[in-house]
Amino acid sequence: MNAAITVTARYLPEGVLSNQDLERMLDTNDEWIRSRTGISERRILRDPKKATSYMCGEVASQLLQKRGLAVEDLELIIVATMTPDMLFPSTACLVQDIIGAKNAWAFDINAACSGFLYALNTASQFIKAGTHKNVMVIGADKMSSIIDYTDRSTAILFGDGAGGIILEAAESEDCGVLDARMYSDGRSGKDHLLMKGGGSLNPATHDTVDQHLHYIYQDGRMVFKSAVTSMADVAAEIMERNGLTSDDVSWLVPHQANQRIISATAERMGIDESKVISNVGRYGNTTAGTIPICLSELDDGGHLRHGSNLVLVSFGAGYTWGGVYVKWQ
Ligand code: COA
Repeated sequence: MNAAITVTARYLPEGVLSNQDLERMLDTNDEWIRSRTGISERRILRDPKKATSYMCGEVASQLLQKRGLAVEDLELIIVATMTPDMLFPSTACLVQDIIGAKNAWAFDINAACSGFLYALNTASQFIKAGTHKNVMVIGADKMSSIIDYTDRSTAILFGDGAGGIILEAAESEDCGVLDARMYSDGRSGKDHLLMKGGGSLNPATHDTVDQHLHYIYQDGRMVFKSAVTSMADVAAEIMERNGLTSDDVSWLVPHQANQRIISATAERMGIDESKVISNVGRYGNTTAGTIPICLSELDDGGHLRHGSNLVLVSFGAGYTWGGVYVKWQ
């Protein structure tokens, strides 16, 4: 039995951080940011008492309500995040508590920007195996908690947000999650996009704080090149394995890191821009949140119909990347 996405939801905090705001904080300008990234503004969860689990809780409640699923019937919660509230317990356990899903088990997956696709692929195996009737999958990141707002090369890129889905058995064999290809390459990726401090290698000390090790470090040019190649390659692989031409693809839903990466991926796939989902201009890169937020916006806009072919592709720290083919049920 394939796994089908039966409901979608998203949460974007109200606080807006615009390019004009960043102009006042950093040596940058709106024109540079928009031409290099396509980003105009991002959402920021400004309340210091609220963290990733809060955004996940908002998504989880909406999912249950929209689907009409009793919370006691929820069987598994998987949260993809690289900004957990704390190293442990998992954010998924905090979400379980927030919504009162006492019969669900819960765990986190950390694959950075590919986290949602890794979690979607993992979750679909539980449905496929027939051991679970429903699994909630949420991708969420409070990126503002790990951004150095004095570093203009990273501060402009990221925002906060969360999106999620529930997976259940598909109504028929020809729809649902039909294919997935996942990749990792720690050898190439580990030095180019990382947070050096706060783990067992560099536990927090005054020194790690002074050295800004608790913030994102990124070699933007290296990451850019690998992201374009890997997202395009995995998208082409998904299309080829499933006999899809560019005309067959209803929507390309790429990870939202940078408009230039999105456009380059679409171009290599030969997919018309009108079928490529992009909201990076409004939200920036919300890391594990990007793909489920896009799905939720598509769904709410009435753009997902029975038989719609969706190709989801992502790339992120690790490196990690992947592609998933979903036929909407
Ligand atoms: N405002 C103005 N100038 C900036 C700037 C900013 N916010 N950030 C960098 N610059 C400057 C640099 O200092 C550099 O100046 P120099 O030539 O005098 O040294 C110049 O702009 C070009 O920098 P470069 O890093 O080559 O720019 P770029 O075209 O590669 O764009 C990124 C930078 C970060 C936007 C781009 O590399 C990128 O998007 N990379 C991928 C990031 C990503 O998506 N990460 C998440 C992956 S999931």
